[in-house]
Amino acid sequence: MNGKRCRKRIMCVFGTRPEAIKKCPLVNEMKKRDGLEVMVAVTAQHRQMLDQVLDTFSVVPDYDLNIMKERQTLFDITLNVLSGIKEVLEKAQPDVVLVHGDTSTTFVTALACFYLKIPVGHVEAGLRTYNIDSPYPEEFNREAVGIVSRYNFAPTPLSRDNLLREGKNPGNIYVTGNTVIDAMQHTVKEDYTHPELEWAGEDRLIFITAHRRENLGEPMHRMFRAIRRVLDEHPDCKAVYPIHMNPAVREAAEAELRGCDRIHIIEPIEVFDCHNFEARSFLCLTDSGGIQEECPAYGVPVLVMRDTTERPEGVEAGTLRLVGTEEESIYQNFTLLLEDKKEYEKMSRAVNPYGDGHACERIADILEGKPYTPWK
Ligand code: UD1
Ligand code: UDP
Repeated sequence: MNGKRCRKRIMCVFGTRPEAIKKCPLVNEMKKRDGLEVMVAVTAQHRQMLDQVLDTFSVVPDYDLNIMKERQTLFDITLNVLSGIKEVLEKAQPDVVLVHGDTSTTFVTALACFYLKIPVGHVEAGLRTYNIDSPYPEEFNREAVGIVSRYNFAPTPLSRDNLLREGKNPGNIYVTGNTVIDAMQHTVKEDYTHPELEWAGEDRLIFITAHRRENLGEPMHRMFRAIRRVLDEHPDCKAVYPIHMNPAVREAAEAELRGCDRIHIIEPIEVFDCHNFEARSFLCLTDSGGIQEECPAYGVPVLVMRDTTERPEGVEAGTLRLVGTEEESIYQNFTLLLEDKKEYEKMSRAVNPYGDGHACERIADILEGKPYTPWK
């Protein structure tokens, strides 16, 4: 047998911005390994926001399903990924398929692998809220992937414990740290500048993102109303909000934030810019998952505009606070952190409960069959 045929064929399938940010460093690590042959298939559940990340990490997909439609429903994503990925998997014949986290691309790909009897590796396994409606549909997606996955790459001991409690085989669980911490190793630079940061100047920079499906509609309007009230009352703060491309998010932002000259709504920024913005922020308000992992590392307090979080490590460490989506709760908590120095200092300690920057190496080692030492 020649060397090439001995290599384990790993196919990475992803479709959205956060999957790409967390998966591309792993793709690049695995490409260095003699024992692995790496293929990349993107569903393009996101198009522009995915391409931005692929460019940043110089990852060129071998397959591209190009499924994104404006205002796509869960049915659209599910049907299009399921029918498209079948052909790709049958053609590529991978030994293992790696999926990431909890998107619909992730769930549907794992389902297709189950139907085709291809082993699944789940990166970022074991995150849970145990509330099937929150986040929606992500809690269902990740629990469902957990039923079929052969390799479970849990980012933290807590996510490992969730899987153990659910009866997963301990031999199939590996605590690796989160690959986003690997991605963060080289992004934040001392001498970074950006016109938006120059605009913020000496004012306190507030960083905002929002997109969750369960928050679309009235909850998102409430979130934006609260943010606007606080900014109107604090002339020493300026907010930068790189807005998601979802038209429903843009409509809510336009309705509630238009005309406020201390909030700049800008197009999605590259991940390199995003990390540098986060690191320089006074405070972040978000309903995003990934940002809950990133900001704690920079000591930037995060008000999580959701009712649940699958990332309790940051809440326990004190840098994340769940504030829900009620206008009054967001308004009160945001105001408190701006006005009460002690409260702010309690939250603004740099901690990193999500990894040590070597998650990709561990995952590649495991897939190559090399000895591995758990992160924790
Ligand atoms: C998806 C994931 C969510 C993840 C989020 C990250 C599901 C069900 N949801 O939610 O778990 O947290 O991505 O951002 O898997 N759009 C564009 N261009 C893009 C991306 C999106 O125009 O590059 C618009 C399209 O109109 C699209 C809409 O945004 O229909 C919604 O995208 P979709 O992937 O369905 O939902 P997200 O909220 O992005
Ligand atoms: N991000 C980015 N550009 C932006 C906004 C966010 O690169 O304009 C990054 C951010 O640093 C994090 C990820 O996107 O790594 C979070 O993605 P998102 O909030 O879309 O999804 P979630 O994490 O909620 O699934």
